[in-house]
Amino acid sequence: MIVTTGMLHQGDLQPERSMREIDGANMLDILRVNTVGPALVAKHFLPIMRRKEKSVFAALSARVGSIRDNRLGGWVSYRASKAALNMTIKTLAIEHARRCPDAAVVALHPGTVATALSEPFRSRVRPNDLFGPDTSAAHLLRVIDNLTHTDTGAFLAWDGSRIPY
Ligand SMILES: NC(=O)c1ccc[n+]([C@@H]2O[C@H](COP(=O)([O-])OP(=O)(O)OC[C@H]3O[C@@H](n4cnc5c(N)ncnc54)[C@H](OP(=O)(O)O)[C@@H]3O)[C@@H](O)[C@H]2O)c1
Repeated sequence: MIVTTGMLHQGDLQPERSMREIDGANMLDILRVNTVGPALVAKHFLPIMRRKEKSVFAALSARVGSIRDNRLGGWVSYRASKAALNMTIKTLAIEHARRCPDAAVVALHPGTVATALSEPFRSRVRPNDLFGPDTSAAHLLRVIDNLTHTDTGAFLAWDGSRIPY
């Protein structure tokens, strides 16, 4: 199960460049889509996943949701929603391992990908650092194929490296 939904901007809702731009309703919208949505998918699908064979539940997170990796600030709602998603994944992984010991429940960073989500923000991204959706998907499928139960609860990048929470 791969949850690929997420929101960074929509119409007037744009990621905050400073604390002056924090808006309660917008922040809740981002949390609803990026944190609550995947949590509800997990609530309904983890209980029906295979018990005795390898299975994977992966949600697309983002490196900017790493608390340790945050050096630039900004994008407070998106960062907070992905950090909360990572905590959700880690917490559900612990509970799920009791029922499905061979499962891996993970958060994945797809890299910077040429989609509508990144479109307004990638002028400074070097061409080699920008993946097409197909390339990113291929990377993530390779990571998923290589997962074992020892990875459950991890936050992993497109190249399989671990990202600190
Ligand atoms: N692109 C990047 O550079 C990048 C980097 C790091 C992480 N990510 C993460 O990767 C994931 C996929 O992003 P993407 O680049 O593929 O973005 P995208 O092209 O904008 O796709 C976002 C997806 O989320 C769905 N979605 C958004 N709001 C929703 C809502 N309220 N209810 C149901 N579905 C909703 C969209 O559905 P509709 O098509 O129906 O609108 C779309 O399928 C996201 O979690 C994003 O945070 C992306």
